Amino acid sequence: MNTSVSTAPIVTSQIQIALGDRSYEIHVGEGLIAQQSPASCLFPLGSAALIVTNETVAAHYGLVLEQALSGHYGVVRTVVLPDGEQYKNWQSLELIFDALLRGAFDRKAVLYALGGGVIGDMTGFAAATYMRGVPFVQIPTTLLAQVDSSVGGKTAINHPLGKNMIGAFYQPRLVLCDLATLDTLPAREMSAGLAEVIKYGPIADMQFMEWLEVSIDAVLNKEPQALAHAVKRSCEIKAWVVGQDEKESGLRAILNFGHTFGHAIEAGLGYGQWLHGEGVGAGMVMAAELSFRLGLVDTSFVSRLKRLIERAGLPTRGPVLDAADNAGRYLELMRVDKKSEAGEIRFVVIDGPGKAAVRSAPDSLVREVIDACCAYGPH
Ligand code: NAD
Ligand code: GLY
Repeated sequence: MNTSVSTAPIVTSQIQIALGDRSYEIHVGEGLIAQQSPASCLFPLGSAALIVTNETVAAHYGLVLEQALSGHYGVVRTVVLPDGEQYKNWQSLELIFDALLRGAFDRKAVLYALGGGVIGDMTGFAAATYMRGVPFVQIPTTLLAQVDSSVGGKTAINHPLGKNMIGAFYQPRLVLCDLATLDTLPAREMSAGLAEVIKYGPIADMQFMEWLEVSIDAVLNKEPQALAHAVKRSCEIKAWVVGQDEKESGLRAILNFGHTFGHAIEAGLGYGQWLHGEGVGAGMVMAAELSFRLGLVDTSFVSRLKRLIERAGLPTRGPVLDAADNAGRYLELMRVDKKSEAGEIRFVVIDGPGKAAVRSAPDSLVREVIDACCAYGPH
């Protein structure tokens, strides 16, 4: 394993996501937005482009994307949504549809998601449903979106009773991970993104986990080579999983390691209190602890994963959601999960390092895990 930090320029990587006639490429490199020119351009053909972004990202990258697109489409417009997980809802979706209908965008229009996972998930859902489906491109600007949410075609909005409960599988035409956009990403968001990077190790690639144990500080410090490797390897693993099970009839569920507990934390505290990646961080510790109590891994594996999550700057304990019956509240929230079957919660567990499985577990055991892994106070 090469752990030395190289100063060589970042070479753009291309990862193919193989889904028959819906296959597409993920490009990972520095300055990719600005590099698109009318002469050499990855953008799909179309009658017009609508950029969907939020107020924060628009201020940084709205203009550069508008400029890149204006050489390619006759009409380029932008809709700027409010920023935050709490706005991942019908009202924001309506703002996208308003912009499309007021601008008379037709079926050949292309939507561009410029932002993190919230913008990407909502833009994808709007693209899936506007005129029964128009093309869209993902331009993820958070680490989390570059390593996970922009790839694989899961699109959704939240419902007050459950996270990502309303949505569709709908693949983008292209994913452009421009590493330069991470320059402006705050440290807390870098940590949140690392949760989704970390998950790929225990579920699929222990060598990647070992690399991350050595390189995590370099990734947090946005050292270009480390960042490029983290994004590229994460996208490769995700593309491999999605290529085999696009609609989550089996294997793809492993990508939700830590998410059953994490989604309960997000919904239980109110969306936007803890970041998605923070919920996943504490959720992975809980899922690893459950794996241990099911006899699938030993305590040293749980401690090792916990240490990595801690070093990423993420919480390793869940919050107390209900002082009277905390475990009961988690169980109630976790039953509203897309993996649940006939009211039975299904957990992604680690079935030996580098291998994941989906299992149910007795409520009494899950209660023990929650009691052992939750704490009062700030994380
Ligand atoms: P986010 O979209 O809310 O972005 C985080 C914050 O960073 C926001 O305030 C945003 O405005 C800001 N931001 C974005 N890019 C920036 C930049 N370059 N510089 C400065 N600030 C920037 O959150 P996220 O963590 O990217 O995504 C979380 C969402 O992704 C959740 O809703 C989650 O459910 C979803 N998700 C979806 C999938 C999927 O497969 N579709 C997978 C994982 C997560
Ligand atoms: N983030 C989980 C998935 O894409 O399936």
